[in-house]
Amino acid sequence: MTATEVQLVPMRWWHIEQVAELEQQLFPVDAWSVEQFWAEMAQATRYYFLAVDDDAVLGYAGLFALSPDADVQTIAVSPRAQGKGVGTLLLEELVDQAIARNCTQLVLEVRSDNQAALSMYTKRGFEQINVRSDYYAQGVDALVMRLRPLQKRAGQ
Ligand SMILES: CC(C)(COP(=O)(O)OP(=O)(O)OC[C@H]1O[C@@H](n2cnc3c(N)ncnc32)[C@H](O)[C@@H]1OP(=O)(O)O)[C@@H](O)C(=O)NCCC(=O)NCCS
Repeated sequence: MTATEVQLVPMRWWHIEQVAELEQQLFPVDAWSVEQFWAEMAQATRYYFLAVDDDAVLGYAGLFALSPDADVQTIAVSPRAQGKGVGTLLLEELVDQAIARNCTQLVLEVRSDNQAALSMYTKRGFEQINVRSDYYAQGVDALVMRLRPLQKRAGQ
């Protein structure tokens, strides 16, 4: 699989179980339940989508957008598909969707010990704007990061 073979599709209710299984693998301490995904997807301010290869779900992401503000609700890539550009693809789509909804900034929270995610966000131009101490289980801080202004990636 290469990132060029991957397609982005809107997430639908019939994807929830598969996504919730991935969620358990990727966020074992604070995974969202099936019910939480249903509740998120029911809201008009949210947009959830998947990265798929044929029918296999490789990754998923969710956006909150209420102009002018947008938040990354979640972004995750299946362990077998990590390190191949899928996360970058999802992140660019989050930026594009936020722009399409007239948002001027994209904000997210990330565990301070999540090196892969921190590196991906920093590379894309996100800057740390705040720290929430002890935000996650076991006293791990959350870093609040922001991308502003919102622009498509150069070359897109
Ligand atoms: C964070 C995550 C989404 C990245 O997805 P991915 O498909 O592996 O990312 P990509 O292949 O597009 O890589 C993008 C950049 O992320 C960084 N990165 C990815 N994996 C990394 C690793 N193991 N170590 C350090 N940096 C890493 C690099 O900066 C990379 O750019 P480079 O390839 O030019 O070095 C993925 O690791 C993941 O799903 N992790 C578990 C869930 C999670 O933590 N989600 C984020 C919550 S805030």
